[in-house]
Amino acid sequence: MQALVLAGGEGTRLRPLTSGVPKPVLPLAGRPFLIFVLDWLGRHGIDEVILSCGFLGDGVARVLGTEHRGIALRYVNEDEPLGTAGPVKLAALHGGLEDRLIVLNGDVLTDADLTAELDQHSRTGAVATLALTAVDDTSSYGVVPTDDDGRVEAFLEKSGAPAPTNRINAGVYVLERDVLDMIPDGRAVSFEREIFPELVGNGLYGYSDDGYWIDIGTPDRYLEATWDLLAGVLGSDLPPRDESGSLIADSCITSGARIGPQAVLGPHCSVGAGAWLERAVLHERVIVGADCHITESVLGAGVVVGHGARIEARAVVGSGADIPAGAVVKAGSRVPAAAAAR
Ligand code: GTP
Repeated sequence: MQALVLAGGEGTRLRPLTSGVPKPVLPLAGRPFLIFVLDWLGRHGIDEVILSCGFLGDGVARVLGTEHRGIALRYVNEDEPLGTAGPVKLAALHGGLEDRLIVLNGDVLTDADLTAELDQHSRTGAVATLALTAVDDTSSYGVVPTDDDGRVEAFLEKSGAPAPTNRINAGVYVLERDVLDMIPDGRAVSFEREIFPELVGNGLYGYSDDGYWIDIGTPDRYLEATWDLLAGVLGSDLPPRDESGSLIADSCITSGARIGPQAVLGPHCSVGAGAWLERAVLHERVIVGADCHITESVLGAGVVVGHGARIEARAVVGSGADIPAGAVVKAGSRVPAAAAAR
């Protein structure tokens, strides 16, 4: 069975982390994000994945190659952004798609029961089945009310009005070929705005799943997903965490520093004596000077933090940036990547 992963967005909300690295392969808990997605697809019997790439598309292929644990990977690259449905049409025009296709957003970390979604799809004879997940705050998502049989009653994009349900579109679709035939060719098309609303009452079903689900598309959610993986809220085959719940690559130097709780240090990081990294994420080759304090922040590859600097919660520091000694990076700020790293 095939799945197509939408992996061509610009990931603007995760900038500056995504200025030089495409979101789908951004390191999460020390490994390229899509590895978690491919492992999950593999567990549900997917043996071929088509990666739909655009923005920094070569970066995805360079990291993932052509095979992952028995799953064949192939790439369809677009010259212009085609939205969420346009890339599926492009892949169909390239040929080699089966009549039933799984399509998913390439920024969703989930253990949803894809096998059960496929079973429901077959049982109902749906044209399209969307996985639905319940969220506490629906304000940044479209909500999808269904009837008792799972038929989608409306496809309500975010609005100020009170939502009739807290079930949102989880970005995991099972589609029949008929849906692909509905997608106009040669322009950007959105499933959410153009195709699914047209399918309401015409074979569009929702499959409600209560498993783990998060989209890693903002710094807050990227950090939340990281901590959930470290804490084992979502199962994975990550290496064991240390006693502080942190994941520190073997090649790191941290003597005299306090690491944790729940920090991630990618390969070849070095942290000076007296520094404290709590719930912080360092991508590879980050150098942190002595006596720094870094809290709940993400530092891209090659960042250098001068001694005694402080990086406050929810800050994001782009690759290669230089934080001077003694500086304070305020909570929630974004420090651009160095020009050479963009
Ligand atoms: P933001 O700019 O932060 O909204 O992120 P994004 O560009 O990734 O957009 P969004 O989160 O809405 O996209 C959902 C999924 O669709 C992500 O996995 C994107 O990579 C993917 N995606 C979005 N736009 C395109 C596109 O034009 N082409 C392709 N191939 N994928 C896309």
